[in-house]
Amino acid sequence: MRDNNKSGRIVRAPENFVAPDLAQEITRDGLSAERRGFLRRSFMAAGAALAAGAAGRAAAQAVGDGDPAILNLPQHSRTLGQAVAANPYGQPSKYETNLLRRESPGLTRVSQASVSFTPLQGLFGIITPSGLHFERHHQGWHDIDPAQHRLMINGMVKNPKVYTMDDLMRMPSVSRMHFIECGANTAMEWGNVAVPTVQYSHGMLSCSEFTGVPLSVLLEDCGYDKKNGKFVLAEGADGSSMTRTIDISRALDDVIVAWGMNGEMLRPENGYPLRLVVPGVQGVSWVKWLRRIEVGDQPWATKDEAIHYIDAMPDGSYRQYTSTQECKSVITTPSGGQQLLDKGFYNITGLAWSGRGKVKRVDVSVDGGRNWRTARLEGPVLGKCLTRFNIDWVWDGGPCVLQSRAIDDTGYVQPKINELRAVRGTRSIYHNNAIQSWKVAETGEVSNVQVY
Ligand code: MTE
Repeated sequence: MRDNNKSGRIVRAPENFVAPDLAQEITRDGLSAERRGFLRRSFMAAGAALAAGAAGRAAAQAVGDGDPAILNLPQHSRTLGQAVAANPYGQPSKYETNLLRRESPGLTRVSQASVSFTPLQGLFGIITPSGLHFERHHQGWHDIDPAQHRLMINGMVKNPKVYTMDDLMRMPSVSRMHFIECGANTAMEWGNVAVPTVQYSHGMLSCSEFTGVPLSVLLEDCGYDKKNGKFVLAEGADGSSMTRTIDISRALDDVIVAWGMNGEMLRPENGYPLRLVVPGVQGVSWVKWLRRIEVGDQPWATKDEAIHYIDAMPDGSYRQYTSTQECKSVITTPSGGQQLLDKGFYNITGLAWSGRGKVKRVDVSVDGGRNWRTARLEGPVLGKCLTRFNIDWVWDGGPCVLQSRAIDDTGYVQPKINELRAVRGTRSIYHNNAIQSWKVAETGEVSNVQVY
C-alpha cells in the first residue's frame, strides 16, 4: 500500500520500549497520569497565588468571582467514577433529560397516527441524534424482525426478485447525509401564528447520515424496463398501506434503500430494518418498513398522493405530486419560548436547507426584514442536507424581530409569508417554506409572530 502521509514523522521505538498498559495508566483515583499532572500544575498555580497573600487572594477571587464551584474541589474530582459497563448503550446526561421529542397534545385523535417533533432549539451542528429524530406514523410503529423482513421488486422488470436483509447488505452501499422534512412541517402557520416554539413550528425536520444500497443498483439487478418503466411505487409493511409514486429519473438518481442511520441500524420508529431515502423530497415518500418496489408506466394515484399531501390552491383546485421541499431556513436560537438573559452579545444560529441542492447564502435580519446581514455558513455545506448558519449579534435591550432568509444554488429565495400566500392562499396544509419571525420583547422573552 502507498503511504501518502509524506509529512508524517517516523520514530523508532527505543530498544527497551514497553507499550504502556491502560490498566497501569489509569490509577485508582480514576485519573490518567497526564490528567493528574495537569491537575497538580493547576493546584500549584492556585497555591502560588494564595501564598502571595492578599493580592493573590484578590486575583483568585476576581477570576472565580467567589464562586464555590471554582474555588472548592468538587466531589467528582476526589472520587472514583462509574465503571465502563455502567452505561453499555450511551445515554445523555441526567441534566439533559428535558431535551425530548414531543407530541403536540390533541393534534390527532390517536397517538399512533401522530407526530413527535424534534427539539431543534437544543441541537448543534446539522446531525439529529437518532433518538431525537422526529417521528410521523400513520398507523403506529413496529420493531420488525430483520430475519423475517423481505423486499420484493416486481412490475415492469425482467427478473422480479425477493431480497432478504442479508442479500441487501452484501450489495455495494453508500452513506449520505440528507435532511428529511415532512410536507406538513410548519403547517400550522399557514393561517396565523399557531405554535409557541421552533420544536412545534419546524420540528418535523431531521438530518442523518443514511447508509444503504442505491435503488438504481436494485433496479438494474432486476432488469427494469428501460423503455416503458417511467415510475416506481414504494410500499411499506405497516398497516397504513403507505404507498408513494416516484418518477424513474429520481429513483435512478440518488434514492437509497437504507438500513443504516448515523452509523447504526435504523431505529424502529424510523423504519427498521429498511426504509426508502428520497433526498430533497417530502417525508411521506421516504417509505418506512419498505417491503415492495413496483416498476410501472404511470403514477398510481394512491390515497397518500391523490387525496392527502396535496396543495389547496387559492382558486379551489388541488395540486398533486408536489414532492420537492423548497429552500427554507429557521433561526433555532434565539427562538420562541426562549428568554434572553441580558442585553449584550448573542450568537444567532439556525438551519437552512433546500430540496433542490445546496444552500448558497443565508441572510439574517434583526429588524423584521428592513435590513439584512449575511450569516456564516458552517461546513460541510452539502446538497439536500441541513446547513448550519451563525451570525454575531449584540442585543441593545430594545424590542426587535429576528428573521432568516435562505437562498439555494438555483437562485431561489425563501419567500415572506405574504408572498407565499399570494400564490398559495391560506387553505393549504403542506409545503410552507415562508420566512419565520421571532419577536424579542424588552423583557428578553422570545415569541412567534408573523410579519407581512
Ligand atoms: N412509511 C410508512 N410505512 N408508514 C408511515 O406512516 N410516514 C411517512 C413516511 N414514511 C410513514 C412512512 C411520513 S408522512 C413521514 S413525514 C416520514 O415517514 C417520517 O419519517 P420519520 O418517522 O422517520 O421521521
